Amino acid sequence: MDFKIAVLPGDGIGPEIIDQAIKVITAVGNKFNHSFNFRKGLVGAIAIDKTGNPLPVETLELCKSSDAVLFGAIGDPKYDNNPAAKVRPEQGLLAMRKELGLYANVRPVSTFPSLIDKSPLKKELVQGVDIMMIRELTGGIYFGKPQGRSEDGNTAYDTCVYSRYEIERVVRLACEYAMKRSKKLTVVDKANVLATSRLWRETAVAIGREYKDVTLDFMFVDNAAMQLIQYPSRFDVIVTENMFGDILSDEASVITGSLGLLPSASIGLSTSVFEPIHGSYPQAAGKNIANPVGTILSAAMMFELAFKLKKEAEIIRYAVEKSIDADCVTEDLNRANPKSTSQVGDWISNYIHEGPLSR
Ligand code: IPM
Ligand code: MN
Repeated sequence: MDFKIAVLPGDGIGPEIIDQAIKVITAVGNKFNHSFNFRKGLVGAIAIDKTGNPLPVETLELCKSSDAVLFGAIGDPKYDNNPAAKVRPEQGLLAMRKELGLYANVRPVSTFPSLIDKSPLKKELVQGVDIMMIRELTGGIYFGKPQGRSEDGNTAYDTCVYSRYEIERVVRLACEYAMKRSKKLTVVDKANVLATSRLWRETAVAIGREYKDVTLDFMFVDNAAMQLIQYPSRFDVIVTENMFGDILSDEASVITGSLGLLPSASIGLSTSVFEPIHGSYPQAAGKNIANPVGTILSAAMMFELAFKLKKEAEIIRYAVEKSIDADCVTEDLNRANPKSTSQVGDWISNYIHEGPLSR
C-alpha cells in the first residue's frame, strides 16, 4: 500500500530521532511492500524563526492531506527563559491539536524486562506494569477562555472548561481500550473540588452503562499520583482530563526507566499524530546521543492505529526489544558503553531488514 506521511521534526533532538524512525519505516516498507511519501513540514521554534508562525498554514494543510503525522519535539530554551515572548513554540503544538481535533492522547506505559533495574522504583513494584494512559487533549484549562491578566498586571487567570460531549468521546474511547484489555478503567479527577471533575464523573458513569463489562473505578488525582508510584501494577486503562493527564503521564513514564522509550498517539477527528512523549532535549541537540526508541515505537503505533497494519507494528516492537536485549542502547540506558542515536536506528532497521517476518 501507499501512504503519505507528514514529517514534522521540530526542534532540538527532533530531527535526529525522526531520521531513525524514517529508516525503520522504510525498512518495514521494503519488507512488506509498502511505499511511503515522506513530506516535511515546519513546526515549533524553527517555524517561528523561518516564518514567524509556530504552525504555518502550509504545515497544517500538509497534516490534513496526509495519512498520518510523525512528530519529533518542540521547544527551545530561548523561549522558556523569556516569559514575555508573545509567540511560543508550544502554541504550534496546541494549535495543531485543536485544528486536527486530536481529542485523545494515548500513552502506553509498559516495561522492558531487561531494563527493569533502570527504574527508580523497586523491581518488585515495576514487574508487569502495563498501563494505557488516555489523556483528553483539546479541552480543559489548556484551552478554556478567558485566560490572561488584569489590566494592572497583578492578577492572572486560566479557565477550566469541559462540555459533556468532550468528556463522552474520550471516555468512550477509553472504554473501547478497556474492552480489549482487562476491562478495568480508572477515571482520574478532582471531583471533591472541581465542577468540571463532577461533570467528568457523572458523564463517565453514564458512558460506563453502555459498557456493561467494563468496571469503572474513580480516583482523585492526588491519590492517583501517589498510587502510581506506590503500586503501579494496580492500574490498567486510565482516562483523565488534559492537565492531570499531562502530569500523570510524565510521572508514569519514568516507571519504565527512561522517558526516551515511550511513544504516544494523538487521535481524533482528522489525521492522527504520532510522537515520543519526551521533549526537545536541547542540551543534546546535534550530538547524536538522544534515544530514538520513543519515536520508533511511535512509528509502530502509526502502523497499528493509522494504517491498521498490525504485523508491521509488531515487527518494529520486536526489533526494538531485540536491540535492547543486545544492549544496543543510548547513554540514558548505558552510560559506560553507549551507542549513538544513529547506531540504534541502524541496528533496529537492519534487524527488520534481515530478521524474521514475525516474532
Ligand atoms: C506534552 C507537552 C506539552 C503539553 C507542552 C509542550 C505544551 O508537555 O505533550 O505533554 O503540556 O501538552
Ligand atoms: Mn507534558
